[in-house]
Amino acid sequence: MTEIMVARYQGLDRCAVAPLPVGGSFADITLRLPEREEPYEVLARTASEVARRLARPDHQVGPGAVVVTGLSAHFDFAAAREFHERLFRSVWTEFRDYAGIPGPEEAYRIKTGTIADGAIPVELYGSQWSFKDLHVDREVLLFSHLYGPVTGFTGGELLLVDIRPYLRGRGLGFDDAFAWSNEATEGSKPVLREAHCGPALAECGIDLGPLGPDAVVFVNNLPDAGILHGVRPVEVTDVRGFRREYHRCSAKGVSR
Ligand SMILES: [Fe+2]
Repeated sequence: MTEIMVARYQGLDRCAVAPLPVGGSFADITLRLPEREEPYEVLARTASEVARRLARPDHQVGPGAVVVTGLSAHFDFAAAREFHERLFRSVWTEFRDYAGIPGPEEAYRIKTGTIADGAIPVELYGSQWSFKDLHVDREVLLFSHLYGPVTGFTGGELLLVDIRPYLRGRGLGFDDAFAWSNEATEGSKPVLREAHCGPALAECGIDLGPLGPDAVVFVNNLPDAGILHGVRPVEVTDVRGFRREYHRCSAKGVSR
């Protein structure tokens, strides 16, 4: 196991005794950009609010994920991606403070890019499709997605699960609830065992629906956050018109 895999194992194992969110999982997940204010002018305030909800410190536990909506009223695709990146960088700085992520700024690397789901280079990731079962990403500590263009398919709804109350309520540890993914490249990520997917989603999950260019979803992917993400199956209905792109920003430790 790599260092980060050990951290993932221990972090999820600790979820069975971690504090539960105030107000229930995902109670205040949505944050709407104000229509009458220029988004860049409220960027610092927005970033701070996103980071506060993402962090899951012991004394007051937030939802661990945030959906920022209202981008379409201000931006086209290209401008929305630019704003997304600026917002992510600000959120990351604030999030490190709130979540107590140690070390100098240079100890972490921010990566941004656009992923064409269904057309991902197989030689790099072993599949044309992004990973869909409920899981946590292996390397990154925080990520955000802005979807669009999205045409020519059904399904693809984004799912989130706050696994803390589920593991705690049943007294489950990592080995009971998770398995490691099979990967084409080195290393694996924790994947929720199939038997737990339905009940966990029903009890402490949320279906965010088919996201598009109006919203950015942020996910706290720290080892002990306990936030899983997944995607419902995608069914292509128009082969020629099919497009499922998302602009992704993420941050990870460089020494990993
Ligand atoms: Fe993922």
